[in-house]
Amino acid sequence: MHRLIQWDQASMGLDIELIDHQHQRLVEIINQLSELTEPENNDPVEFGIILGYIADYAYYHFQTEELYFDKYDYPDKEAHKAEHKYYIDKCKELISAYNKSNEDQQLAISLLTFLSDWLTHHICGSDRQFAPWLREHGLR
Ligand SMILES: [Fe+2]
Ligand SMILES: [Fe+2]
Repeated sequence: MHRLIQWDQASMGLDIELIDHQHQRLVEIINQLSELTEPENNDPVEFGIILGYIADYAYYHFQTEELYFDKYDYPDKEAHKAEHKYYIDKCKELISAYNKSNEDQQLAISLLTFLSDWLTHHICGSDRQFAPWLREHGLR
């Protein structure tokens, strides 16, 4: 089974159970999408369905983080929220292009690359930056 992203607790973990769980779920969904683009498992219809699901799950996950930003008034919350908004907007734009494209496989691959690169970069960067601050507020 091909995995686009391999979860690595040392570089991707925040050591906050709820957030790590949601991040792992996002990674799982992206890996599922990746499998569906492989020649032996190619299934553009299911790919389209799971795409809708990742946008919803990402939205739900960002809401979770933003709830904590607001609750504890995280100093960098506006910049972080703007990153989330960018991802959701970009996801919607790419998904609608994919749906209109008649299941273009090239588009599926570039979509997948965007989804996984941005997510990995965001988790290892901005999310890990707020982990110590969340832990200071008692989250485990
Ligand atoms: Fe996150
Ligand atoms: Fe985030």
